[in-house]
Amino acid sequence: MPGSAAPYCLIVDDEPRLRQVMVHLMRADGFACLEAGNGIEALAQLESHDVTLVLSDLRMPKMDGLELLRAIGARELDAAVVMISAVADVELAVNCLSIGAADYIIKPYQLEDVRARVALALDKRRLILENRAYREGLEDRVAAQARRLEELFLASVQSLAEALELKDPYTRGHSVRVSRYSSIIARHVGLGGEPLRQIELGGHVHDIGKIGVREDVLHKPDALTPEEYQHIMMHPILGWRILSPLLGEAPTALNVVRSHHERFDGRGVPDGLKGDEIPIEARIVAAADALDAMTSGRPYRSTEMTLDCALEEIQRNSGTQFDPLVVRALVASAESGELQLVEKGERGERRGERQLSRQS
Ligand SMILES: [Fe+2]
Repeated sequence: MPGSAAPYCLIVDDEPRLRQVMVHLMRADGFACLEAGNGIEALAQLESHDVTLVLSDLRMPKMDGLELLRAIGARELDAAVVMISAVADVELAVNCLSIGAADYIIKPYQLEDVRARVALALDKRRLILENRAYREGLEDRVAAQARRLEELFLASVQSLAEALELKDPYTRGHSVRVSRYSSIIARHVGLGGEPLRQIELGGHVHDIGKIGVREDVLHKPDALTPEEYQHIMMHPILGWRILSPLLGEAPTALNVVRSHHERFDGRGVPDGLKGDEIPIEARIVAAADALDAMTSGRPYRSTEMTLDCALEEIQRNSGTQFDPLVVRALVASAESGELQLVEKGERGERRGERQLSRQS
């Protein structure tokens, strides 16, 4: 008798005598043999044993070989199935190959021939399993690499954001708050999933281009000259250039960076886009950005607007600076209590935004 480590071979035939012949043969080849008189019995055996090889007759009562083969396929079992058919069933047996049989043997058969066909069927099964394991391993490796790439990418974006905060302490916390407000507004206008994730990311990095702004302009406490204002308002394009190589897979976040200073009436920068030409993600972040600018302290003015005052001012600019749809979502989310001002660790001022809203 084979030991418990022997692979199982299930022999399915309604004739006990023919089953015995096969049992002898397969035992001699090292298999532990199970028997079934029809497809239903075979399925019961397959459920309780991890079967490597099935040798099945085609014509049987209750459930024939073809049905059994289909049932094995539906259960995605790994067993190699070799059909055994009378000469008259050859066409049927060939059909079996198309639905998953590894091979077929025609009765009457030579035992040596059965051995050879079984060996081929097992070889085929081994290749299929190896191929599947390789594919699964490959998918795991690709997924792990994608996760690693995303981690590296977020780390590099994070370090850029930190570099900006070091350069311009007034932006500290601003990006996080804008990201949070944008997320709430976006959900109110029905966005979710990947677009929402990218809007949050875009909110985090929308001002990254200020890294390229001269410090004397960034920190100037007085009103900016037109030249200085123009210089600071280059930051959307600068940010877009910096992040384009990193955010190729996140076009929505890139749109936020480039277009968060566009105005609904077309008088914004850098592209002078108007209304729906401005990506919705940028219209959302523009409102969130203004909300935080108004409710954060200034170096030359310590008082901050209340949420109600800021909402009033944003509503006054609805349809000119801001998208009315976004403004309604912002007001509704504030009224429902979902949007509340985030506590600020440090007071923040971002010059360009404030100046832009002054223009409106
Ligand atoms: Fe900005």
